[in-house]
Amino acid sequence: MPITYCDQSRTFHLDTVNTTYVIGLSPEGYVGHIYYGDRLFGEVDNSLLRMEEKPFTPSVNPGNKGAFLDCFPMEYPTGGIGDYRESCLDVQGPSGSRGCELLYESHQIFAGKKKIPGLPASFGQEDQVETLEIVCRDQVLGLKAVLSYSVFYKEDIITRSVRVENQGAEALRLTKVYSACLDMDNEEFEYITLQGSWARERHIQKGKVAYGRQSMSSVRGESGHQVHPFMALVTPGTSQKQGRVYGMHFVYSGNFMAQVERSQFDTVRMTMGILSDEFSWKLEPGETFHGPEAVLVYSGEGLGRMTRNLHNFYRNHMIRSSYCHKKRPILINNWEATYFDFDTNKLLDIAREAKEHGIEMLVMDDGWFGERNDDTTSLGDWVVNEKKLPGGLKYLVDQVRALGMEFGIWMEPEMVSPDSRLYREHPDWAVQIPGRTATQGRNQYVLDLSRQDVVDYVFDSICKVLRSADISYVKWDMNRQMSDLGSALLGRDGQQELFHRYILGVYELQERLTAEFPDLLLENCASGGARFDPGMLYYSPQIWCSDDTDAIERLAIQEGTALIYPLSAIGAHVSVCPNHIVGRVTPFETRGHVALAGTFGYELDITKLTEEELSQVSEQTAMYHKYNDLVREGDYYRIASWRENGLYDCWECAAADGSEILVTYVQVIAQPNVRSRKIYLEGFEAQAVYELEGAGHRYTGEQLMKYGFLVPACAGDFVSRLFHFVRIEG
Ligand code: GLA
Repeated sequence: MPITYCDQSRTFHLDTVNTTYVIGLSPEGYVGHIYYGDRLFGEVDNSLLRMEEKPFTPSVNPGNKGAFLDCFPMEYPTGGIGDYRESCLDVQGPSGSRGCELLYESHQIFAGKKKIPGLPASFGQEDQVETLEIVCRDQVLGLKAVLSYSVFYKEDIITRSVRVENQGAEALRLTKVYSACLDMDNEEFEYITLQGSWARERHIQKGKVAYGRQSMSSVRGESGHQVHPFMALVTPGTSQKQGRVYGMHFVYSGNFMAQVERSQFDTVRMTMGILSDEFSWKLEPGETFHGPEAVLVYSGEGLGRMTRNLHNFYRNHMIRSSYCHKKRPILINNWEATYFDFDTNKLLDIAREAKEHGIEMLVMDDGWFGERNDDTTSLGDWVVNEKKLPGGLKYLVDQVRALGMEFGIWMEPEMVSPDSRLYREHPDWAVQIPGRTATQGRNQYVLDLSRQDVVDYVFDSICKVLRSADISYVKWDMNRQMSDLGSALLGRDGQQELFHRYILGVYELQERLTAEFPDLLLENCASGGARFDPGMLYYSPQIWCSDDTDAIERLAIQEGTALIYPLSAIGAHVSVCPNHIVGRVTPFETRGHVALAGTFGYELDITKLTEEELSQVSEQTAMYHKYNDLVREGDYYRIASWRENGLYDCWECAAADGSEILVTYVQVIAQPNVRSRKIYLEGFEAQAVYELEGAGHRYTGEQLMKYGFLVPACAGDFVSRLFHFVRIEG
């Protein structure tokens, strides 16, 4: 049994294959955190909550309750009663004052996992996941909080969420509801987060955990380019293979907070949840608020193990799409090829040439609807522009289908242009504050998806488009951050609910869309990679990773992204050089190798490529078919990081049974007068014999892992090599 309760010691043990999480109860019923780390096979009792040390528990020493609360390792701390570290739950009672105290009441353990109403969340069969629900109560407020822990045994993952129910007679106001907390002794922890900007998303950042609070958050209404809803605490010297790693990842696409706080007693409290700025929620008697899920992962074997656990978990328990384990069609997208300047003939020219070279789907990007010839107009008017596409969508799509290709389309359903029929008819459907000129971002407003009528309109608009032709794929974009938070319907008391209600509206739309069109391949996107989060993965098996398609910048972006997301989810394309964002010129081959570590596709005008480039496209599309199963389903090993060494990048995709391994090596900067470079490979069967394809050399797995593999010296910056090892004996 992964979850057990020991009545005598008042402890819960949550076991996965390699990890254990222990929760203990104090005599009063405070729910405390005892342990998270390498698997324990014996009992642990609640004396490890250190209740025998001063200041003792309140039942023994009521006069020093505050001192106790301020050092007790809480599973789910509450605000206003004497724990001065970051709280997870803040509640304003009927008197208007803030204070909440949760004490254990009961618990239940059951096979499987419940859904979280309205929110994306992981899932699993009854033999894959077991759940513990600890029911706590605040007697004064009449508030019940259920702390939920789901244990995914095989993947070494524990997910947490909370639901809060008002069982009192008067309305309560929730001003903060976080999803997870981890209170531990400090071990000179360092934190790892993912930071960036547009076109340079999710670069890995490391820092020392200092006294006080180190917070990463987004108040932009999206998970965002700048920060990512992920944090890991690692012990000093942690590498890919060594070190203790505690990761937390948030299954949510709106404002979030990920924080670590080092206390006066050298403990750390790591918390994650919906950002409390701009959030409050009125909870009427009988109502329940559901917090989003947080994913917890522990690895005692460095970052590599954390990465592979998360990859397996997301592939098996978060991505619902039937495409998750399937090869996706190789697509060509016309955005960088034409921007807004295209018509049916241009698209068909691209499609014909693409088809010749093994590309399987044409994706028509922004600019096909309303009067949209630049980004100033028409969002919301999802009616085809017949000046560009005479005969409409159906004609174009039928032509593309007749070539033997699939067709995909871009939409930005959450937005409205001030210059649109929709906005002229329904100005109150935009998020804005009465009396203020709302701030525009990319010349647009955000639709108020907290309103059911707006959600229904958007859903109908998408359905009409998708029913009008044989469309296999949608790129769902979202190109501005939110501001001017005002909703025409939420009233004075409800405006602070808008951010969360908005995201619930987005989730409802994607839920309905994927239910209505189960075979649709959905790719989420937000100005590149601003909505790359686990919440989106629940609806779409792939997410556009960044508008930056430069192969070298992508090394850093994809390294950070692949730290926590499977390669099968990473939208990656080959584009032309000089690269449109950074102006860099890289070999066509390198661009192909880097895009191979993702969904793979093209973002260029294929009719303008040289003969040599065209023949490389044919080789690359064949390469994709040869390796995609391995890339999509294999174990990922990060071998070297050019961000760290300044010279070269290297990663591997290894079949779980060790039968084949694909190594991608990119020499970013060439050095003069050097010999071959040794790299230590991983994931091989030690005693098996492997052949390096194309070279005829044979190696034992042991040699490649212990002695290493010698990458021949080569000339040139930005050049790349694939090394494919196939097991031939053992
Ligand atoms: C965003 C996307 C791009 C492209 C444009 C179209 O920036 O990230 O890929 O679709 O919008 O306007």
